[in-house]
Amino acid sequence: MNRRINTNNIILKSIISDNTKISNEIMALKYVIIEPVGFPIRINSENLKITIEDPTLFNVYAREQWEGETIKEGDYLFDNTLIPDYAFKVISTYPMDGGIITRDTLFKLKTEGVCEDRPFKKVKFEEVIGQESAKKKCKIIIKYLKNPEIFGEWAPKNILFYGPPGTGKTLLARALATETDVPLYLIKATELIGEHVGDGSKQIEKLYSQALNNRPCIIFIDELDAIGLSRQYQSLRGDVSEVVNALLTELDGIHNNDGVVTIAATNNPDMLDSAIRSRFEEEIRFELPDDRDRLMIMDLYKEKMPLKIKGNLKKYVEKTKGMSGRDIKEKFLKPALHRAILEDKKYIDEKDLDAVLSELNKSKRETPLNLYG
Ligand SMILES: Nc1ncnc2c1ncn2[C@@H]1O[C@H](COP(=O)(O)OP(=O)(O)OP(=O)(O)O)[C@@H](O)[C@H]1O
Ligand SMILES: [Mg+2]
Repeated sequence: MNRRINTNNIILKSIISDNTKISNEIMALKYVIIEPVGFPIRINSENLKITIEDPTLFNVYAREQWEGETIKEGDYLFDNTLIPDYAFKVISTYPMDGGIITRDTLFKLKTEGVCEDRPFKKVKFEEVIGQESAKKKCKIIIKYLKNPEIFGEWAPKNILFYGPPGTGKTLLARALATETDVPLYLIKATELIGEHVGDGSKQIEKLYSQALNNRPCIIFIDELDAIGLSRQYQSLRGDVSEVVNALLTELDGIHNNDGVVTIAATNNPDMLDSAIRSRFEEEIRFELPDDRDRLMIMDLYKEKMPLKIKGNLKKYVEKTKGMSGRDIKEKFLKPALHRAILEDKKYIDEKDLDAVLSELNKSKRETPLNLYG
C-alpha cells in the first residue's frame, strides 16, 4: 500500500515539488482534501470518529506515511500507523486530475472552516439578484481555488465589496460558501477586536494560519469598516491600529499565502484606512436594484412567503424605487404579510401592499434621511 519514493529519487522529488510535469505525466499534488470514513470491516460496533486538533501536526503525520502514493479523487488512503487500516477517502485534489503525494503536499481534513460550528442558511448564486460583476468575480475565485496552476502569479487575492446597506454583500458571501467546496471563513470584523491590546492581532494571525493550513480557502471579512477605519475615525472605535497592522501584513502575503483569497465588505470604502484600501486589487460596487432587479427580488420572495400574493407586482416596481433588496423584503413584503396574517386572510392582496407603502411614504416625509439608510 505504501509506495514511498526512495532516496535515489531525490531529483525526481525536487522536480515534482516544483509542480512540473514529469515524463509520465504524474503531477505533484499541492493539496489533498480527505474525509475520514472508517474501517473497511465493522464488527458490531460504531465506526470510529476522528478529530484533528493540530492541522500542522496532522500534515507531517499524513505526508510521513503517504509520501509517494499516487492518488486521485475517489481513492482511499489507509492509515498505517496509529489506527491501522482506518480509511480516508480522497474528496478532491489539486491538480484536479490527481497526482503524487510529495513532501510539499498539504493535507486537509474535510471540514467547513470557521462556519463549521455556525450553520449558515444556504443560498444559491441565482438567489442573489443583480450584482453581476460581483457574482462573476466569485466564479473566477472558485475557478482559481479549483485550478490554481492556470493562474500562477495572476491569482485573485484581496477583493473589496462595497456599496449601500442591504444590497446583498453578506448574502453573496453565503452563496459563495454554499457553492464552493473549499472552506470559507465568514467572520465579522468586530469579532477580530479583542478585549486587551494584542488580542486582535493574535486573532488575525490565528485566522490566517488556520486558513493557510486549510488552503485552498476563502476568508470573508464582513463589515471591514469596524477595524479598517481611516485614522481620523479610529478614535470612534478605540485603538485598532494593532489589528490594522496585523491585517496589512496578512493582506501583503508576507508568508506564502497562495490559495487563500480574502474578500472584505464595507458600506463606505472612503472611510477605510488608505493603506488597507490600497491592498485590495479590485473594488466591486454593489448597486441598489434597478427596475428589473426589484421585480425579480419581489418575485423571488413571493415564492418563499407563507401566504401567496394576489396582485400584480409590476405595479410596485416604480413605487419601490430607491429600496435595497433588504428594504423590499423587510420593509415592504414582510409588513404586508403581517398585515394579512393579522386579518386572518388566506393571501396578501394589493390593499396590504398599498397600506405598507403609504405608511412608508408617511415616515419618509417625517424622517427623509433615514428611510433607506
Ligand atoms: N441582491 C439581492 N438579491 C436578493 N436578495 C437580496 C439582495 N440584496 C439583499 N437581499 C435581501 O436582503 C437581505 C440583507 O442583505 P445583505 O445582508 O446581503 O446586505 P449587505 O449588503 O450585506 O448589507 P450591509 O452593508 O448592511 O451589511 C438578504 O439576506 C436578502 O434577503
Ligand atoms: Mg452585510
